[in-house]
Amino acid sequence: MSTLENLSCPIDSAPLQRCERSLICQHGHTYDLAKTGYVNLLPVQNKRSKDPGDSKEMVTSRHAFLNQHHYQPIVQAILSSWPKENLHNGVRILDAGCGEGYYLSEIGRVLSDQGINAERMGLDISKWAVTAASKRDKDISWLVASNASLPMPKERFDAVLCLFGFPVFTEFSRVLSDHGVLLLVESGADHLIELRTLLYPSIHEYKATFAAGVPGFELLHEQAERFTFTLDSQLHIQQLLSMTPHIHKASYDGREAVKQLNSITLTADIKLRWYQKEIKEVNYV
Ligand SMILES: C[S@@+](CC[C@H](N)C(=O)[O-])C[C@H]1O[C@@H](n2cnc3c(N)ncnc32)[C@H](O)[C@@H]1O
Ligand SMILES: [Zn+2]
Repeated sequence: MSTLENLSCPIDSAPLQRCERSLICQHGHTYDLAKTGYVNLLPVQNKRSKDPGDSKEMVTSRHAFLNQHHYQPIVQAILSSWPKENLHNGVRILDAGCGEGYYLSEIGRVLSDQGINAERMGLDISKWAVTAASKRDKDISWLVASNASLPMPKERFDAVLCLFGFPVFTEFSRVLSDHGVLLLVESGADHLIELRTLLYPSIHEYKATFAAGVPGFELLHEQAERFTFTLDSQLHIQQLLSMTPHIHKASYDGREAVKQLNSITLTADIKLRWYQKEIKEVNYV
């Protein structure tokens, strides 16, 4: 069951207590649970736009695409590369920018088959994404919140996952326990290259992100994952396109060319990087 435990008030950082279908801080700030069980901890003053994050349409498309399990090899790669000493019974996992919840849900299912019980929390700035996630899996605590200001105390988690998302390293470091790990998953140079070749007149040179390292973290392990999958209808092709930024960036001619397809075989080219939180040395004099 989702517990929504050990969270902080986004206004004053005071601990939140569960009282039936609300979370309340000692100063009386109250956050009601939505019908589907998630809680919105994104105060209006922290919103940069009225409807931040992925739109309802993007979330619907991502949900339909991920439910076809073409990206199941990514779930397997995450689990097989997870640092072994971190993956113990009771491990506390945060998915920061969880989208519609596919990965965190699948990770929990596989871990539970292996006899590992994980406490899982997923958050996203998009209320559409969190609504979909909260319908997908009732065993996970789901929040609307921003990576820029995580509504939870320090050292709350043993692992933070940021999959195709927007990392905020100071916040990730704060909420990780000593020896906690961070996973970044990003697309590599050839990701969906067949589609991008149709969409753009030329392909930009690939630039690796965080090549110079990540502040506050030490790289433990880096891995590339490559596989192919086939989409066999125009609907499935449009669903994939609509969950990516290409839907807005591609040229008119490119999008028209993709509308002519009935099937396409695509390369998935993914980078996984595991980091460990750097522990600051204390100098005793
Ligand atoms: C490309 S999607 C990836 C979603 C999910 N991790 C997946 O792989 O299916 C990026 C997600 O980050 C969310 N997002 C954008 N800015 C955010 C922020 N500041 N804090 C948390 N989530 C954010 C978006 O709403 C969107 O759901
Ligand atoms: Zn408060």
